[in-house]
Amino acid sequence: MITNKFSAIQRRVLSTTFICRVNKQFFKSINMDQNYPKKNEDRMLKHLFDGSDWNVYDKNITNLGVGAPGPDILVKCCDIFEKATSHRMKLETTNQGMLFQYGPTVGVIEVRSGIAKFLTDAYKSEVKSEDIIVTTGATQGLHIILSTLIDLNGYIFVDEVTYMIALDVFRQFSTLKIVPVKLNSDGVGIKALRAFLEQKQFKSETKSFWGLYYAIPTYHNPTGITFSKDVLKNLITLAREFDILIACDDVYNTLYYGENVAQKRLYAYDDPNDDDFKGNVISNGSFSKIIGPGLRFGWLEVPPRCKSILETCGLLNSGGCLNNYTSGIMASLLDLGLGQAHAKMVKELYEERMLATCDILRNNLPKSCQFIEPQGGYFVWIQMPEDTDANAFLQICIKRHKLFFIPGNRFSLDNNFKNCFRISIAFHQKEVIQSSVRRICNALKEYLNL
Ligand SMILES: Cc1ncc(COP(=O)(O)O)c(C=O)c1O
Repeated sequence: MITNKFSAIQRRVLSTTFICRVNKQFFKSINMDQNYPKKNEDRMLKHLFDGSDWNVYDKNITNLGVGAPGPDILVKCCDIFEKATSHRMKLETTNQGMLFQYGPTVGVIEVRSGIAKFLTDAYKSEVKSEDIIVTTGATQGLHIILSTLIDLNGYIFVDEVTYMIALDVFRQFSTLKIVPVKLNSDGVGIKALRAFLEQKQFKSETKSFWGLYYAIPTYHNPTGITFSKDVLKNLITLAREFDILIACDDVYNTLYYGENVAQKRLYAYDDPNDDDFKGNVISNGSFSKIIGPGLRFGWLEVPPRCKSILETCGLLNSGGCLNNYTSGIMASLLDLGLGQAHAKMVKELYEERMLATCDILRNNLPKSCQFIEPQGGYFVWIQMPEDTDANAFLQICIKRHKLFFIPGNRFSLDNNFKNCFRISIAFHQKEVIQSSVRRICNALKEYLNL
């Protein structure tokens, strides 16, 4: 209708302008100039956050943005990994140096049974070694799920606020359509999700699943909520009815604090004894948060229908397991009980930090703001009044108070939740977090003119 108002020439000019704009956006999105750069720059960075606003090691600013363990925790890895490596190397001398061979696609049995035992204890619910596939962490786990199990013309359903880098991973698969779904305080909106599933479903000719719901049901990133039992049960009903896959990002599951107990993970709700069981859930886990992200070690807990596909995927097969060497060291770390003791120590430190943070927020946060008190995990989500802007507040915090956090819109596909922000309790020691959270509360009072 609108184009009828323009002449043919006008239409051509308009469409050329549009194409140029799209091209510019495309080049910007893939981080490439239309004049291709001639040289790569070696920036000699020391870690992921080096050389950016995010530099959590920068002593001039307290960064509450980053979801990663700090130096006091990481340095404790040196001793336990020295012991585990020495243990494993002694074994290898009588094992034909097998650890340096291509490994079994899903990972050596020692590490898969070590992970299964560790998780069975932590979750207080059985995890079976035959369901475990070794990965280099949850990010890679998610990437493999997308590339092997999901129709590349299909749909990814996400919470309306979700882990921001998962959104970046999904965007990379540019033929997939991402659909944000309402998130309530007890989990994803089941009615809203059902409506989308009814509207979008199709029969995939190429892959096992036409759609995927990416979920973080336990200690959600960024909101800190935990999905209720009812929501989890309803999710299984929906997943079976529409035959979608639910990829559960379970990286925070073992970090429950205070009086709280281990949450039953969604994978355990998808019971193989049910008549209508098909296998619609994968639990995607990682040692990044409980030992160290530099390890690059995680696992997928998968139902039989997915395992048979993943086992024959080229990436796992050609590589001979995604992480064979580290698997051997991790097997020794768990066999010697060192991994379990370390994870327990880390959990206690985080617990202290989270309880102290919530205490301060309860007593000092302005009444017009709210926060969700998490039962575990790394993150606290703070909501300011509707008409405020966390990006503007962040600029004030950086300049005047030397504090950094992540504004809410970074977690939203549609750039919503501008009045919210996320703080992390993971990196800094308790005293630093306590004083920073107090300063955030005071800065908020100033920003809100209270
Ligand atoms: C929800 C969530 N999933 C995955 C990751 C990354 O996990 P990994 O280091 O195992 O790739 C993070 C890290 O911040 C996260 O918060």
